[in-house]
Amino acid sequence: MKALAELAKRRGFFFQTGSAYGGVSGFYTYGPHGATLKATVESAWRERWATREGHDEIDAPTIMPEAVFEASGHLDGFDDLLVECPACEQSHRADHLVEGQTDIAEAESYTAKEIEGLLAEHGITCPSCGAPLAEEPVEQFNLMFETAIGPGSTNRGYLRPETAQGIFVDFPRLREYARGELPFGVAQIGRAYRNEISPRNAIVRTREFNQAELELFFDPDEDEPDLESVADVEAPLFSAEAQTADGEPSFQTIGAAVESGPIADDWVGYYVGVATAWYDRIGIDLDRVRFRQHQAAERAHYARDCWDAEADVSGPGQDPEWIELAGIANRGTYDLSHHEAHTDERYRVFSEYDEPRTVERASVEPDMAALGPEYGSQAADIAAALEDLAETDQRAFEGETVAVEVDGETVEIPTEQTGFAVEEVTERGEQITPHVIEPSMGIDRTVYTILVHAYDEDEIDGEERTVLRLPPEMAPTLVGVFPLMDKDGLGEQARNLAADLRAVGLSVTYDDSGAIGRRYRRQDEIGTPYCITVDYESLDDGTVTVRDRDTTDQVRVGIDELAATLAALQDGELAFDQL
Ligand code: GAP
Repeated sequence: MKALAELAKRRGFFFQTGSAYGGVSGFYTYGPHGATLKATVESAWRERWATREGHDEIDAPTIMPEAVFEASGHLDGFDDLLVECPACEQSHRADHLVEGQTDIAEAESYTAKEIEGLLAEHGITCPSCGAPLAEEPVEQFNLMFETAIGPGSTNRGYLRPETAQGIFVDFPRLREYARGELPFGVAQIGRAYRNEISPRNAIVRTREFNQAELELFFDPDEDEPDLESVADVEAPLFSAEAQTADGEPSFQTIGAAVESGPIADDWVGYYVGVATAWYDRIGIDLDRVRFRQHQAAERAHYARDCWDAEADVSGPGQDPEWIELAGIANRGTYDLSHHEAHTDERYRVFSEYDEPRTVERASVEPDMAALGPEYGSQAADIAAALEDLAETDQRAFEGETVAVEVDGETVEIPTEQTGFAVEEVTERGEQITPHVIEPSMGIDRTVYTILVHAYDEDEIDGEERTVLRLPPEMAPTLVGVFPLMDKDGLGEQARNLAADLRAVGLSVTYDDSGAIGRRYRRQDEIGTPYCITVDYESLDDGTVTVRDRDTTDQVRVGIDELAATLAALQDGELAFDQL
């Protein structure tokens, strides 16, 4: 993986930001090839998770006021466990130290006290200087970056730790765009910020990163996903039960996994299926992926069930190194009901019954002319208490008097003064709080995994080469165009050809420097799937050679067919060996 990091920096995939200023850990810049690859991953996500599903996309601000995060629970619950080394004063994620220095796999689910105990029990030491951490306190550290909105410091805000809240806070408006009909999904791709205690593994754990999230709002009694479309997808599932029993992940079809376990929720099953097929399409090796079900103690404060997509990003011959690519969580009604409780808005949807229902509706019309003089300022509260009681307990109105609690005092009101009545009304439906399923993907980790899984070293004609075996759809450059030599009109023809291919929207690089073999190697290591050489034959018969990156095979193709041929290769409509 050192080799990949070196390649990423040298060939402009990603590098630590601002090294001239010493660099701050957790901040990375994508170079030209990396920025293109990241944009391609985002487009492929948008195409599959928003456009093809018929969902709308929004773009919300990255800073929001404190009240939003009070309601969402992030102010109180979005913490990691921190331990500081007494010798070198470096801060570490205490649960990661436990995972790194013991056999415990998921220490995130332990409490601060339990982790303190494990530091002592296992003699855990500081990874920076080796000092023992046995006696050190483990504290909760909130991961949100705080800021002040406007001048002064009274209006506190936070950089969003997930893009999701931008969707939840504006649910009442988004509901209107969806004409109030469930199910509907809202997608968002954008930056998220977390003040990670110990950023690591380049773009795998950073303090500013990119998420692609879909919030699917649905009625659990009415709405079902299109399970049939993913029923035959084979996904590598690692259930909570298999983890407890020290088992292994196993490939199961989504149809079987939803029907007879371990996936209990149809929507979660649907998205595990969509994610599996999508990862395969963008170049992630499914033999190095698993969907791991969260243990109850591990779930985020809002989640009712969650499956993480994890990828093994270890190098050849190393122990597996699993990173979390995505979480697919059932968030229930947590977010919408919390935002409703903290605002004056209704975060609900009117759900129409199949048939109108006739129900008994109890109401009161208190005699204020009698209650006012007797109870003074308490009369309005008594009327409100009677109204609540009529909705919840009609039998309370069966006697001569009705007892209600007001300001901690029981007040007896003559039933005839309550104006209690029961009438039959016909209702078309009711207001319900939608449930939410959320597939939440990390774009940076997806980019990283694509690169790790594409990275290969082999030997061509006795010479070692590094090659990124990216799917043509994902490659930052689709085709390199070279003249055999920049003379006798070959250079001019190659430059014209490159311009013509760019004009039809293909991503093309032109290169005439050095031996042709060196030019091929340069393209191989950034994953360019095809290279075209204009040679003397091209001047005679209007054909060029097209070379395939993976096999290094070459075929001659007419210049007038090139644009269509390359586009078909990129879209997967044509394979190189069919040429
Ligand atoms: N809205 C749910 C949510 O944010 P999460 O599991 O905390 O869930 C979703 O984050 C994804 O975001 C993760 O699966 C991971 O891919 C990515 N992610 C989280 N923290 C990250 C970090 N510090 N650096 C890079 N990616 C990160």
